[in-house]
Amino acid sequence: MHPTYDFRERVVCVTGAGRGIGLAMTAAFSAAGAAVCVNDIDADSADQVAAELRRGGHDALAFVADVADPAGVGELFAAIDARWGRIDVLINNAGIEPVHSLFDHPLADWQRTLDVNLTAAFLCTQQAARRMRDQGGGVILNIASIAGKSQPLYLRAAYAASKAGLVGFSKEAAREFAAHQIRVNAICPGVIITPMTEHLRHDEAQMARWRGEIPLARLGEAEEVANLALWLASDAASYITGAAWHVDGGKNMA
Ligand SMILES: NC(=O)c1ccc[n+]([C@@H]2O[C@H](COP(=O)([O-])OP(=O)(O)OC[C@H]3O[C@@H](n4cnc5c(N)ncnc54)[C@H](O)[C@@H]3O)[C@@H](O)[C@H]2O)c1
Repeated sequence: MHPTYDFRERVVCVTGAGRGIGLAMTAAFSAAGAAVCVNDIDADSADQVAAELRRGGHDALAFVADVADPAGVGELFAAIDARWGRIDVLINNAGIEPVHSLFDHPLADWQRTLDVNLTAAFLCTQQAARRMRDQGGGVILNIASIAGKSQPLYLRAAYAASKAGLVGFSKEAAREFAAHQIRVNAICPGVIITPMTEHLRHDEAQMARWRGEIPLARLGEAEEVANLALWLASDAASYITGAAWHVDGGKNMA
């Protein structure tokens, strides 16, 4: 049992949970007693994560779906209904980060990035919020990025646009859902050690720049993002909604 948080009797769905930050959040909520739905587009990783959790005595269901596909999202929530009949926490985490110059950015990559990073959050939020409204409350967390709140990256226009959209979407959802006791917050990680950033971590010049820019002088661990998610989803954050939270070692202090 997690020493601080108690999510027993609560059902948590994490999208893109087969690796990286999603995996860390799934593990953290399981350790705190939650039943978890492990979604990923990659069947092997989703199945492995859920199987590992079940081996550890946790209640976990793998559900393979592309969360940018409305039919797949409908099936995901039907599976959650069938297994648990409720959803307490939705974490929209699935994301992709193509790298292109704007001068020749392929339209298909632009559209796919908006679909996965933003439209998928809309689709999952709509499904979850209808259920949370009927249950009397819930929590939705959207994993955005510093790129969507405070700081451009470089050659990642679609990513930054999608994450900025996710921050705005989180505030609008928080405003509308507050009357139904559904809290919505965005999390804006800095540079976190996951497969998404692996290629950058082999670049010594880039690593040196980051160490200079980040006051805590290191990259973040996926578990450190999960710790913020645990707190925001818990009753300890019961008066907090509509905010976008940096977890970036002090890179952005706004
Ligand atoms: N790693 C970082 O430094 C960092 C920084 C800021 C924000 N983020 C955000 O955090 C989230 C997780 O990032 P990560 O670093 O763990 O990435 P990752 O690439 O390591 O993992 C992403 C997971 O999402 C899954 N996924 C991708 N598209 C999907 C889809 N359409 N449907 C379902 N699953 C899908 C992938 O299969 C993968 O398992 C992303 O939204 C990312 O933009 C990451």
